[in-house]
Amino acid sequence: MERTENVVRACVVGDPVSHSRSPLIHGHWLQRLGIAGAYDRRQVKADEVDAFLDEVRAGKLRGGNVTVPHKEEAARRVDVLTDTARHLGAVNTVWEVDGKVWGDNTDVTGFLANLDERSPGWDREREKAIVLGAGGAARAIIYGLLTRGFREIGIANRSVSRARKLAEELQPQGEQQLVPIAWDARSDALKNANVLVNTTSLGMTGQPPLELSLEALPVQAVVHDIVYAPLETDLLRAARQRGNPAVDGLGMLLHQAAPGFSRWFGQEPQVTDELRLLIIDDMNRTAA
Ligand SMILES: NC(=O)c1ccc[n+]([C@@H]2O[C@H](COP(=O)([O-])OP(=O)(O)OC[C@H]3O[C@@H](n4cnc5c(N)ncnc54)[C@H](OP(=O)(O)O)[C@@H]3O)[C@@H](O)[C@H]2O)c1
Repeated sequence: MERTENVVRACVVGDPVSHSRSPLIHGHWLQRLGIAGAYDRRQVKADEVDAFLDEVRAGKLRGGNVTVPHKEEAARRVDVLTDTARHLGAVNTVWEVDGKVWGDNTDVTGFLANLDERSPGWDREREKAIVLGAGGAARAIIYGLLTRGFREIGIANRSVSRARKLAEELQPQGEQQLVPIAWDARSDALKNANVLVNTTSLGMTGQPPLELSLEALPVQAVVHDIVYAPLETDLLRAARQRGNPAVDGLGMLLHQAAPGFSRWFGQEPQVTDELRLLIIDDMNRTAA
């Protein structure tokens, strides 16, 4: 695309960043909506995050996405945090308003919008959810489950101390509770659960398998794997085989991109089957 002064520009920054599919997603929307915009990727070291934010502050860039490992640093460096980003201490989307850089965390809306679209009514029963993992993605997902009113959220993690720490940091007031679970107890903990979410990297291409027995899980429980490479993980296959509704993680990636696009380029993009197929095709070509 030819660069002119009128082209609105945004980018994703991270280290590494070559794997990011954000340019493909935003490029598709720019083309479909006929917007004179550009969205690039930039490899940025920790000590370059400030310079990136300065560009946004100065209006040289309309904004951008921040990915691993800079999400926490970005949360410390932006001028204003949304409530969600403040609670999570991590920012993945930035934009400028009146000379100030705002930071949001759209993994939460991406997670919720994907389940709302793919399994409508998934949060009708919200007595108990089980989350496998206690990393960055788990933090956003547990926060999302809390906002939807889940009463008990069990967090099963290999290092239970990390689950405990996350539970302490996000612990809500009132009737809702976060319960750390030892990794060895994860299969038994599925009893009476309404929702199960895998947020570990287990089951992802190149990673060890997720070993989990679904025997105790009610057959109505919604099973969601945020791993999207492969799209149909062993967990999702096992869930479908026994009759559980099962939702893959690609929609979370697509939906988390939408709020940033609206802020930078001024139009609301759609998560369509065409976009989904474009990303699946790219995953097949790059075997990721
Ligand atoms: N669909 C989407 O849009 C989306 C968005 C974000 C992330 N993701 C995916 O979610 C996964 C996690 O991302 P993240 O950012 O949360 O990573 P992270 O912060 O590094 O957390 C990784 C999690 O996986 C667990 N884990 C890793 N290896 C394990 C093993 N061998 N046995 C048991 N547990 C293990 C870790 O447990 P310990 O704490 O014990 O190390 C931790 O809970 C990745 O596969 C990522 O691609 C998808």
